[in-house]
Amino acid sequence: MLSAQQANRRYFRQAYRSGQHGWAVEEPSPYAVAFLKRLKRQVPGGKLLDLGCGEGRHAILAAQLGFRVTAIDYEPLALKAARHFAQVKQVRGIAFRKADVFSLPFRASSFDIVLDYGCLHHQRKAAWPAYKASILRLLKGDGFYILSVFSRRFRLFRGSRRRWHIAYGAYRRWFSKREIHEMFAGDFELLDMCEQRGRGGGFWQVLMKRRAETR
Ligand SMILES: C[S@@+](CC[C@H](N)C(=O)[O-])C[C@H]1O[C@@H](n2cnc3c(N)ncnc32)[C@H](O)[C@@H]1O
Repeated sequence: MLSAQQANRRYFRQAYRSGQHGWAVEEPSPYAVAFLKRLKRQVPGGKLLDLGCGEGRHAILAAQLGFRVTAIDYEPLALKAARHFAQVKQVRGIAFRKADVFSLPFRASSFDIVLDYGCLHHQRKAAWPAYKASILRLLKGDGFYILSVFSRRFRLFRGSRRRWHIAYGAYRRWFSKREIHEMFAGDFELLDMCEQRGRGGGFWQVLMKRRAETR
């Protein structure tokens, strides 16, 4: 029997092998564009870590905006595609690395910004404390955190009473506004939080800044 982590991993391997995964490959989220443009004024040229970078759409965007980018994913096929797109777009200097969110090989306080588009919502609730500890260790004291996770309105959860959905081994979970507050508001100030609705929606888009007292 595969563990939840192994099943997820197997799903992502297959998703990148087939190219049939359902999220945008190259087009960055307009919310990521807006948040990063905002942070460009506050931490120009800052160090950014993209967690679960996939095919690199947000890592490439961040590098185009002048951030110094490290992008990790545990799926080698995703990283291969990300390197390819960076090369095609002539975006240099992104450090793409194979790594697991739960054992990241970086020094403490090395990043100004951590960005997660669609990685946390694939993790089981029991793993959330380890995930958050990882971010807090890596973020500088005055760092920012950009998060995008499923909300209840995401198409897979419509009409379901469950908070989670499993298909082809992949675990997905939607977050309520309250859960996001409970998980993060003690350590971060929520600067901007909105629910992306409509076609292609069903996501919370959140920009946070680390609280001074947690540094
Ligand atoms: C839904 S995809 C999103 C990809 C990318 N962030 C984007 O917006 O296009 C989630 C990504 O997280 C990666 N991932 C999931 N769990 C991970 C973990 N524990 N460590 C590293 N990467 C992980 C998957 O391989 C996948 O590429």
